[in-house]
Amino acid sequence: MAADLLIRAAQDADSRDIWRWRNDATTRAMSVHSTEISWDAHAAWFAQAVAAGDRRFYVGELGGAKIGLCRFDLAHDGASAEVSINLNPDRRGQGVGASLLAGCIARFRQEFPVGLTATIRPDNPASQRIFARCGFVLVDNDGRDGFGHYRL
Ligand SMILES: CC(C)(COP(=O)(O)OP(=O)(O)OC[C@H]1O[C@@H](n2cnc3c(N)ncnc32)[C@H](O)[C@@H]1OP(=O)(O)O)[C@@H](O)C(=O)NCCC(=O)NCCS
Repeated sequence: MAADLLIRAAQDADSRDIWRWRNDATTRAMSVHSTEISWDAHAAWFAQAVAAGDRRFYVGELGGAKIGLCRFDLAHDGASAEVSINLNPDRRGQGVGASLLAGCIARFRQEFPVGLTATIRPDNPASQRIFARCGFVLVDNDGRDGFGHYRL
């Protein structure tokens, strides 16, 4: 991991950046839910989501600049969590995604030592690669929803 990568819990003050990254065209193309989200809808959702007991959001910073977000949604039984990652569009293609993902997983598992799942489009090789580097394996690719389902 990049030695100077800071992983911290996301706060309300990050909401606008997270909204901007979420509405980026590439992010939407790679997401399960690809519609654009209004600021008002996002702000209301994020304020409650960041305070919820069954979700965690972590922001990575390099040199004081935000490089991206990882999100963990605990399953109803608390036995696993779904992880997703979204880099600041300015920081994609620079090799920082794997470090951010690994750092956020380590941080999340300090609090929740549970299995992780991930859902990745077959046409997202960069994402497949960084999840594989963190140890995720493909468990279901039968095409029901067009996504690959991974586990760690
Ligand atoms: C997906 C994402 C997190 C990847 O992070 P990144 O730092 O941009 O990834 P990189 O450019 O370092 O690429 C990761 C690896 O994939 C490889 N890769 C990238 N594009 C590739 C391609 N088209 N074909 C094959 N391999 C590719 C890179 O060579 C790199 O390999 P390495 O680890 O051996 O060096 C980031 O681009 C992102 O946030 N994208 C938008 C949102 C998204 O897709 N999130 C994931 C949803 S499941």
